[in-house]
Amino acid sequence: MSRQTPVYYYSSASGLVRSFAERLDRPVLDLSVRDVRQSEADGPWVLLTPSYKTGNEANDTIPEAVRRFLRSPVNRRRMVGVMGSGNRNFGRYYQHAARDIAARSGRPVLFEFEIAGTPWDVEECRRVLEDLDVALAAGHHPAA
Ligand SMILES: Cc1cc2nc3c(=O)[nH]c(=O)nc-3n(C[C@H](O)[C@H](O)[C@H](O)COP(=O)(O)O)c2cc1C
Repeated sequence: MSRQTPVYYYSSASGLVRSFAERLDRPVLDLSVRDVRQSEADGPWVLLTPSYKTGNEANDTIPEAVRRFLRSPVNRRRMVGVMGSGNRNFGRYYQHAARDIAARSGRPVLFEFEIAGTPWDVEECRRVLEDLDVALAAGHHPAA
């Protein structure tokens, strides 16, 4: 079996992303834990982030814990893809955090779902990550 690419996620007190992450059947790490957000990924990893429109002038949507983890050049280099949770009610800010990070890092958005995600979303996301594991194991990826 190939290495299971770990998923680093942020989830607020409502915990919707956490419950999704925990159903992925692979190593998942919680960026709200200080030691996790101050660590360095030991290989390729995937980010899972909700978007949070702050209403400030810049309308930042990237959670601070995610921003903190991405300050590390090693983590930025080893990140191979981005997944997002959002809510279409936020209009043009739908999935803004995940899409913004993907655009700025040149990494693909691998999967997006709304709010807590459906059982179908969980299955589809597992499949996407399994394909990624295989591609990385075969060396078909720059970060492998
Ligand atoms: C205050 C607030 C702001 C939000 N802003 C956005 C947004 O800009 N874009 C978006 O797609 N979703 C937005 N959402 C939806 C959340 O990203 C979504 O519900 C996510 O699943 C929350 O995950 P969590 O419970 O793990 O924190 C917002 C939700 C809240 C409560």
